Amino acid sequence: MTSEFQRTPIDSRSRERLAAEGLRLDLVDPGDRATLDLWLRAEARGFHAPRPSEESLGEQFAGYSDRRTSGVWDATAAEPDSPVATVSSWPAELTVPGQRSVTAWAISAVTVAPTHRRLGIARAMLEAELRTADRLGVPVAMLTVSEATIYGRFGFAPAAMTTDWRIDTTRARWTGPETSGRVQFVSLEHLRDEGLPIVERVRLQTPGQMEFGGQLWVRLFGLVGDDKDAAKHLRAVRFDDAAGVPQGFAVYRITESPADFAAHTLDVKFLVAATDDAYAGLWRFLLEQDLVSELTASLRPVDEAVLWQVSDFRAVRVAQQRDHLWTRILDVKAALEARHYPRPGRTVLEVSDPLGFAATRVLLDVAPDGSATAEPFDGDIPDDAAAVGLSVNALSALYLGGVSAVSLTRAGRITELREDSAVAVDRTFRSPVEPWLSIWF
Ligand SMILES: CC(C)(COP(=O)(O)OP(=O)(O)OC[C@H]1O[C@@H](n2cnc3c(N)ncnc32)[C@H](O)[C@@H]1OP(=O)(O)O)[C@@H](O)C(=O)NCCC(=O)NCCS
Repeated sequence: MTSEFQRTPIDSRSRERLAAEGLRLDLVDPGDRATLDLWLRAEARGFHAPRPSEESLGEQFAGYSDRRTSGVWDATAAEPDSPVATVSSWPAELTVPGQRSVTAWAISAVTVAPTHRRLGIARAMLEAELRTADRLGVPVAMLTVSEATIYGRFGFAPAAMTTDWRIDTTRARWTGPETSGRVQFVSLEHLRDEGLPIVERVRLQTPGQMEFGGQLWVRLFGLVGDDKDAAKHLRAVRFDDAAGVPQGFAVYRITESPADFAAHTLDVKFLVAATDDAYAGLWRFLLEQDLVSELTASLRPVDEAVLWQVSDFRAVRVAQQRDHLWTRILDVKAALEARHYPRPGRTVLEVSDPLGFAATRVLLDVAPDGSATAEPFDGDIPDDAAAVGLSVNALSALYLGGVSAVSLTRAGRITELREDSAVAVDRTFRSPVEPWLSIWF
């Protein structure tokens, strides 16, 4: 059984544009194993990944049953059944400030074969994705990106950042709270089968987190196809509260130092905690491993609280900080009304969008309870309102509440249409919880 979003016909404008180049943009039938295998091989090649094994293809075939999968074919190629470009998409719930969520069009697997690059294929596919999402009434699109240079031109902007941490565990003595629960080892298979409800509980607490299951979930445990070898090194622990209820888990890998057996490195692959107790319990367990002198953790929030739970600030270093989740508002009214705001007030937003979807002028009116309306507005700026002009990129950056409107104004990305509006817009959009997405997709 396929869903409506999978059956919606391919975008006719992009199809025609590529047809004029002798290329065919088409959907892959999720039940067509042979075509999907070729598509998966093309995708792996596009990301310079190893050729997928038969086993992996079989597992991924099942995983793609709930996605919309498109490709581009060149009838003149030596192997015309193999696509020269790939993209996949699906609607997923994205958490927005105020413990609410909005349906977002997740776009993934964007590749174009090196033999066909810079012919406008990615542009045709991306515009098709945006028009399809818009047609289906999905107000926001989102993706995680290989390069930060590609998607701005399509209206995307980074809205949730991420940090890779490096902790010297010989210096980072635990000074955080004592916990009342316990940490225990569990199998990866156990977490795969039982862990998702914990992630789901956490999802709504943090803007930028998305609903995920299926292959994105199973991949965390390295239990699929070609990841299985690497997964031999993974260990998993679960934190149970005093009543025995699982409240968090961590998946990690310890690597031996060739020079010093007391200087292993522990790499945190995934850590999720539904309570502060679980957070402290898991981090303490990971930091206090014998024979380990360094802990690394990637794709973590920029405001990781563990920094405040160890004796030495400088034992915890930022290895890398960068953009992670990119969002693109398609329907300004629906997107802005889906989230909550920390304080009441009115703002006129003049949004420009070269692709047209989000070009509008709205009055965002936030009520005392934090809910808002965003109605199209062509009157004079009300006396009590802030007013700014901004691109859809800047609005998308602000959307999850993690990017400063003051910085964007200083950078020339937001124009104040009334004096001092940047500070007011910042207060309106900021989220008390830093946005964070804990996976790639
Ligand atoms: C990135 C990729 C999909 C681009 O495909 P493509 O068909 O060559 O791109 P297009 O010809 O449609 O280019 C569209 C626009 O993006 C620009 N562009 C394309 N790739 C770019 C890159 N890597 N960096 C910066 N700009 C890029 C083009 O210059 C063009 O700009 P313009 O239309 O504003 O003039 C392709 O190079 C690829 O498969 N790369 C490896 C896999 C990858 O990184 N995928 C992205 C996953 S998030």
